Amino acid sequence: MAKSEPVSARHVAIIMDGNGRWAKKRHLPRALGHQRGVESVRRVVRGAREMGLEALTLYAFSTENWRRPEEEVSDLMSLMKRFILSDLDEFAAAGVRLKIIGDYKAFNARRRGTGQGAVARTAGNTGTTLAVALNYGSQDEIARAATKAAAKGPITPESIAAELDTADLPPLDLLIRTSGEVRLSNFLLWQAAYAEMMFTEVLWPDFTAEHLRQALEDFSTRDRRYGGR
Ligand code: FPP
Repeated sequence: MAKSEPVSARHVAIIMDGNGRWAKKRHLPRALGHQRGVESVRRVVRGAREMGLEALTLYAFSTENWRRPEEEVSDLMSLMKRFILSDLDEFAAAGVRLKIIGDYKAFNARRRGTGQGAVARTAGNTGTTLAVALNYGSQDEIARAATKAAAKGPITPESIAAELDTADLPPLDLLIRTSGEVRLSNFLLWQAAYAEMMFTEVLWPDFTAEHLRQALEDFSTRDRRYGGR
């Protein structure tokens, strides 16, 4: 088969890792690393929008992150809430559609209210979809999807895929993990079946829109075979 033409990524997902190490290197509190991590989120969402990505999925809080000290969990929660509240006008104006994936029921009513309000306000937007994974674990997502699929009829790969939290997003093209760790950590296991993977040493607070642009450029030169030749 002839080498394929460059293709543009439609859906990119990022495991944002290294906030703690970024802070530690500078003898700063972890909370500051997370704060700088939010700045990276802002830059990358703007970049994704400008680069015309259809969907950007960010791993913000995993089902395992509850095991962190209570103070850190609460820091992360309030940072996310503040981010949603402060950037919502910009999303609304720029056509960004906010989506939350994961088992969102675990959050208290006030937090759920903030998230659901923001999702509702941007629901009609047709630009980039920003999917934020909150209390997300891929095995949990697949189990939930399989349960729903089984209630409707035979379980097949298609019937499960149709019930995943990401069912309305384009197929995942590229999965990026920052900070030098090389594992998926229960993120988008099903969706990653044919995704390209990129692992970078850059710590999340140092990740910029330019890093995303380079990743997309690198992606466009990869020869994806989907099991064929
Ligand atoms: C990993 O760093 C990062 C997280 C567990 C949370 C990611 C969350 C944010 C960037 C905050 C806000 C998110 C949004 C969507 C506004 P780590 O603490 O595991 O770093 P380490 O491995 O170096 O300790």
